Amino acid sequence: MSIRFEAKTSTFTLHTQHSTYQMQLDPMGHLLHLYYGRSVGDASNFDLYPAADHGFSPDYHELENVRGSYSPDVLPQEYPGANRGDFRVPAADVADAQGARGLELIYQSHSVHAGAYTLEGLPASHGDDCETLAIQMRDPVLGLGVQLLYGVYEQQDMITRAVLFTNEGSQPLTLEKAASACLDLPFGSWDLIQFHGRHAMERQMERTRLDHDTRRVGSVRGASSHHHNPFVILCEPAATEDYGSCYGVMPVYSGNHCTDVEVDFNGSTRLVTGIHPDGFRWLLNPGETFTTPQVLLCYTHEGLSDLSHHYHRFIRQSLCRGTANQTSQVLINNWEATYFHFDQDKIYDIAQKAASLGVGMMVLDDGWFGKRDTDTSGLGDWFVNTQKLQGGLAPLIQKINDLGMKFGIWIEPEMVSEDSDLYRAHPDWALTLPGRKPVLGRSQLVLDMSRPDVVDYLTDCFTKLLSENHIEYIKWDMNRNMTDVYSHALPPERQGEVFHRYIMGVYTLLDRLTTRFPHVLFEGCAGGGGRFDAGMLAYLPQIWCSDNTDAIERLSIQYGTSFGYPVSAVGAHVSACPNHQTGRTVPLGTRGVVAMSGTFGYELDLNKLSRKELSLVKRQIARYQSYAELIRTGDYYRLTNPAGADFWHGWQFAAPDGSEALMNVVVVHPQGNPRPLHIEWKGLDPNSLYKVVRAELQGVHPGLPAHDWAKAIAGQKFTGAQLMYAGQTLPQLYGDYPSVQILIRKTR
Ligand code: GLA
Repeated sequence: MSIRFEAKTSTFTLHTQHSTYQMQLDPMGHLLHLYYGRSVGDASNFDLYPAADHGFSPDYHELENVRGSYSPDVLPQEYPGANRGDFRVPAADVADAQGARGLELIYQSHSVHAGAYTLEGLPASHGDDCETLAIQMRDPVLGLGVQLLYGVYEQQDMITRAVLFTNEGSQPLTLEKAASACLDLPFGSWDLIQFHGRHAMERQMERTRLDHDTRRVGSVRGASSHHHNPFVILCEPAATEDYGSCYGVMPVYSGNHCTDVEVDFNGSTRLVTGIHPDGFRWLLNPGETFTTPQVLLCYTHEGLSDLSHHYHRFIRQSLCRGTANQTSQVLINNWEATYFHFDQDKIYDIAQKAASLGVGMMVLDDGWFGKRDTDTSGLGDWFVNTQKLQGGLAPLIQKINDLGMKFGIWIEPEMVSEDSDLYRAHPDWALTLPGRKPVLGRSQLVLDMSRPDVVDYLTDCFTKLLSENHIEYIKWDMNRNMTDVYSHALPPERQGEVFHRYIMGVYTLLDRLTTRFPHVLFEGCAGGGGRFDAGMLAYLPQIWCSDNTDAIERLSIQYGTSFGYPVSAVGAHVSACPNHQTGRTVPLGTRGVVAMSGTFGYELDLNKLSRKELSLVKRQIARYQSYAELIRTGDYYRLTNPAGADFWHGWQFAAPDGSEALMNVVVVHPQGNPRPLHIEWKGLDPNSLYKVVRAELQGVHPGLPAHDWAKAIAGQKFTGAQLMYAGQTLPQLYGDYPSVQILIRKTR
């Protein structure tokens, strides 16, 4: 049993393999947060909070005589409401029909059941390896029932949380804020790690010390955004990849999210996470229930790599639904090869060359439908552009299938061009403000996904596309953020619900299509990685990581992404050089090494490559296929920070049982007289013997000693302890962005 309730002390204890999460009811029925951290057993930890007069801290009316020594102002709370004596960031803010704001939750009952909970209309983790605790709280004055849900994945060290609000009274209530979770850490000082960015430069890792203020990581763009990823880490200042207390907080949400972290006057830290309160207002009529998104919490005392490994495994095993469709198959996408300028012959040419090299799928990107020769028109008209594809999709798909390749296609369901038949027929289906010209993004408008009729229409459109054509992969794009957020189908008092109803509409469409077409591999995308989050990953096992395909820029993007998300989720392709985003030229071999740390594919016209390059592509594909299992399911280790001072960047995969490992090193700043490049392997069995299966150099100038080293090292044996603790020194890798991959395997 991972969930215990000790009646004598009214203490709830949630146990995972390596962590303890503890809460306690106080005599008035408030739910206090006692502890979350390294395993401590079942004993109540309430004496962590001795009574002390904090001056100016308000008192519960029932306890007026204790004067500031038992105050909501300082006690750690499990789910604090606004305007009742706790001045820190609230988890919820509720107003009654008179506009009186105030929420104070009192315990009613609790229940425990085997298995994971589900959330109506929202993505949530699944699995039998979970136990659920539901604590029923109530504000008797508002007549509001609040159910706090906890999913405990004992073996995976993961605790999920979500909240259900039910109006049990007779007056309408308004939720001004409804977060998914609060986490009070009364002691310690903490670093905040967050992943900020911009289009083509997503998830740049930033680590800062928390001070006496409130930090906010969030998005009000209608999508989780390129700008602030919905994943943060709090870690002790001394924490490294291999050591130290770390808390991960990952909302399973793709819309406006917000994580506030406050350090208060007492030096205690509070984190509140969930839907962004700006632009949010939810009318809860009697009998109605509002469900918050889920959040995934993980604690480890073993550093950042261990935290990442927990999220990687959890997302693959207990969040994604469709990973079975991911294989070692390599795809080619025509976007950077042709942009909008193609016809069926051009696509077939690319496919034919790719098939001859071992590529297994041809993906037709934007431009195949409606009037779509530029990005200014056609979105919404999901019928084939027969000027480009004479005879429609079916003959092209057949020809591609005849090459032994699968066929995939790009769609952008949530968008509409002003210049489209769909918009002309249904102008009220777009988000626009009455009386104003809508603000444009990439010349397009956003469909009002909060409308069930829009979601039904799109369901029919794409059900038809997928039923009538042999399509085995979908790239689901979303290329602008939301403005003019107003639904022509909702009354004035419900306009604060549009952002959240929108993303629920997206989830409904995703749910319908992925359920109806389980054999189709869906890949998410939003101008690259603008919606790279756990919410999308619940439906789609992989997401195009960034529109930036420059291998060197990708190092920091993929590095930041790796803290929360598994490599199996990271869409990565080899593209042409000079690179279309940066103008940089990186050796084809190194481009392959970087793209292999993702769902490997190509995005260029292979017909433009030389014979020598084509033969390298063929070897690259074969190599990726032999590494694919290790890359997708191995433990991922970051060896350097690409934004740091090192002239090289390294990362490594190790099979969870330590049987094999793959080292990747890229020289990012070629230097005249570099220091020795020394690597220390991770995740091996110190007592086993490992053989170097192969060391492959890429982009190293011919005739240099490194080539002799690569030949000589193959077949050599080292103990795991040698490789991990003494490490290895690599030869100097001269060239423009050279790289090396070393595969080792356990031997006798
Ligand atoms: C977005 C995607 C690209 C490509 C284009 C097509 O930018 O991120 O990969 O699909 O749209 O318009």
